[in-house]
Amino acid sequence: MSSNSSRSLNTRVAVDTADPKMDAKRPDIVRMGVIGYGYWGPNIVRNLHALDNCDVAAVCDKSEAALVRARKAYPAVPLTTDFNEVLNSPDIDAVAVVTPVWTHFDLAKAALLNGKHVFVEKPFTSTRQQAEELIEIADSRNLKIMVDHTFLFSGAVRKIREVVDAGTLGPLYYFDSTCVNLGLFQHDVSVIWDLAPHDLSIMDYVITERPEAVVATGAKHLNGVADMAFITIYFPGNIIAHVNVNWLSPVKVRTTLIGGRDKMLVWNDLEADEKIKIYDKGVQMTSGQGVYDMLVSYRTGDVWAPKCQQTEALKVELEYFLKCILDDATPINDGVAGLRVVRLLEAADESLKARGKVVEL
Ligand SMILES: NC(=O)c1ccc[n+]([C@@H]2O[C@H](COP(=O)([O-])OP(=O)(O)OC[C@H]3O[C@@H](n4cnc5c(N)ncnc54)[C@H](O)[C@@H]3O)[C@@H](O)[C@H]2O)c1
Repeated sequence: MSSNSSRSLNTRVAVDTADPKMDAKRPDIVRMGVIGYGYWGPNIVRNLHALDNCDVAAVCDKSEAALVRARKAYPAVPLTTDFNEVLNSPDIDAVAVVTPVWTHFDLAKAALLNGKHVFVEKPFTSTRQQAEELIEIADSRNLKIMVDHTFLFSGAVRKIREVVDAGTLGPLYYFDSTCVNLGLFQHDVSVIWDLAPHDLSIMDYVITERPEAVVATGAKHLNGVADMAFITIYFPGNIIAHVNVNWLSPVKVRTTLIGGRDKMLVWNDLEADEKIKIYDKGVQMTSGQGVYDMLVSYRTGDVWAPKCQQTEALKVELEYFLKCILDDATPINDGVAGLRVVRLLEAADESLKARGKVVEL
């Protein structure tokens, strides 16, 4: 490790002692350790660092190059290549696990067993059993788990939930989400485990019924893992959801359609303003006297774009994580919500392998 990046937690760099966050542990401050400073980790650290009731007490990455970047951005934050230093530190209350998916379980488990609350990246774990074990450990120790289902904290998704809860769309018919772009290919997980957690966590948040079955098809063209997949999820009450994820799309698309009996909603996350549009459109069937007298009438009314908050979703989410710890509250995106998504991902894998077998949940 270069001398510039090797200051361990024990040799914590001097900080401005006038900074109230750096005094002895205050009850309104959460001291966070972040493990993983690759692509996504810097976003976590940036947001935590900016929050008043958070002290970024350590950043850990096994890569020295990553720590050099961290040192440059946050000269006062202690760094280490050894995650045990974070997990064993009595000066850390909560750990963010921002490492590849296959490492989530071991790191989160060790953190919980060391009495730390855990913020863990999506997808929560690689298997349902792992998720269940983590939930059990956290419950038995009254520790919080929050799974980074970032989009739930975006202005758009919060607005969608508000609209659906208010009954504006009427009873739901479908949820149809497209999340496609060129790459970024992951080595350890398929496109299902990389991109679909976002769509599935949003679906899980918007549709309060619990899914009954999953059907998935897809293909692997390049590196042995599925690079495109079409996942269908069946719900009670004739609600159907579809998620299209693809790393081989020439263009980036982030669009979700939510159709209800009374109105239909389109969310285009790539729009700068007016991300959500609600269409007063619908179809009505009335039967006439004879069997062939089905009357179809189409309704086309106004279109409007409700205002969505623009605050960065990750900032809102991390603020909420700290609040849940300080107030001893259960996050909406807790381990149980993470487990629901992992179950859907596993079912999609199973179905895809069998070319679209129906997997009951
Ligand atoms: N919420 C989101 O929108 C979002 C976006 C991107 C990635 N992610 C998730 O974040 C996680 C990390 O993804 P990424 O793209 O940043 O990956 P990455 O490979 O770019 O970074 C992971 C970092 O973790 C480090 N690391 C791995 N094992 C370690 C260990 N045992 N101890 C210390 N450091 C270790 C690596 O050196 C690397 O720097 C994944 O779970 C991914 O699904 C979430």
